[in-house]
Amino acid sequence: MKQILVTGGTGYIGSHTAVELQNAGFEVIIVDNLSNSSLEVLDGIEKISGIRPAFEQFDLVEADKVDAFFAKYPNIEAIIHFAASKAVGESVEKPLLYYRNNLVSLINLLECQLKYGVSNIVFSSSCTVYGQPDELPVTENTPRKDAESPYGNTKKVNEDILKDTIAANPAIKGIALRYFNPVGAHPSALIGELPLGVPANLVPFITQTAAGLRGELKVFGNDYDTIDGSAVRDYINVVDLAKAHVIAVERLIYNKNENGYEIFNLGTGQGVSVLEMVHAFQMATAVKLNYKIVDRRAGDIEKIWADTTLANEELGWKAETGLEETLLSAWNWEKRVRGME
Ligand code: NAD
Ligand code: WQD
Repeated sequence: MKQILVTGGTGYIGSHTAVELQNAGFEVIIVDNLSNSSLEVLDGIEKISGIRPAFEQFDLVEADKVDAFFAKYPNIEAIIHFAASKAVGESVEKPLLYYRNNLVSLINLLECQLKYGVSNIVFSSSCTVYGQPDELPVTENTPRKDAESPYGNTKKVNEDILKDTIAANPAIKGIALRYFNPVGAHPSALIGELPLGVPANLVPFITQTAAGLRGELKVFGNDYDTIDGSAVRDYINVVDLAKAHVIAVERLIYNKNENGYEIFNLGTGQGVSVLEMVHAFQMATAVKLNYKIVDRRAGDIEKIWADTTLANEELGWKAETGLEETLLSAWNWEKRVRGME
């Protein structure tokens, strides 16, 4: 069985990807320092897939620990690197924490790839690298803009670190996946997104409001140049997203990639407004959502959605799950976490 290192594998996207990798016959080894996730996630992965992945708890910033890991596991065929700090607002307050965690982790992994002969890496990038694009939808060739936060900048710089390292070392191949807005949970409701504290992201805020943990959803802005004045994003189902990682890993392992370094947008190709999200949630769940329109949130862009042609044609991957089904999965997960079932 081919071994895949999944860093950040007890996190939101990593846990769903661990399930899909195991379903596809890969052996998963998770590394996570549990800074933003918990060990119980392994139970969820095991219940869904029937397999408990190997787990090593350490901080990828510590170079000696990363080295010792690769010495212990000499047969790893590919790395999927999810581990990172991801709170945009916190990154503005604590830029050094973000630069150290997100940049040093990747550098440590790449150095070990060279030392231990691990050829393949898939990196979690983000549509944040596009900022507010001049033209929509965005293709992979749409120019990147200056990042609006230290977090966003770590994605941009990490893409460059990966590209430059691969250019200098053809033994390494890599794929950067630029996620749009990942949402939803596994249909089993056994794993999902579990933000600490008050959620900054829209869907966890919606489900927590519906569950009664928050009084009302604040819709940030209704004066954007969009269908109904609220901001527009491309919300991608997390299981669909996870499946793209299995395809990316197979592409690298079986040498189907054309270039040493490749980039793919992962989204649905559809822009959806915040108010459309609210209505879709109400339709999907029959739960009425208390919401109020307030001022725009600082740092938000107006609208973005993906051109997914490259991922559709080159990877043979397409977002499949409908928005209401996705929002229902998020609600079922919230209800399970809150003991409402
Ligand atoms: P998450 O916080 O749920 O998962 C990340 C995991 O990495 C956590 O379990 C955390 O404990 C772990 N981690 C962080 N730093 C670590 C370190 N130094 N050593 C070991 N483990 C560490 O986040 P997620 O939403 O699953 O995101 C996964 C990746 O996708 C991140 O790189 C994120 O930046 C990227 N991404 C996320 C989104 C999104 O909206 N969720 C969008 C675009 C890109
Ligand atoms: C979506 C929309 C909000 C909360 C962030 C990161 C980005 C990427 C994905 C990692 C926006 C609106 C939200 C609320 C609201 N992450 N909203 N009320 O800002 O598109 O992207 O996560 O790479 O880098 O910046 O996602 O879920 O925060 O917001 O009206 O309580 O919902 O204004 O229009 P965003 P989000």
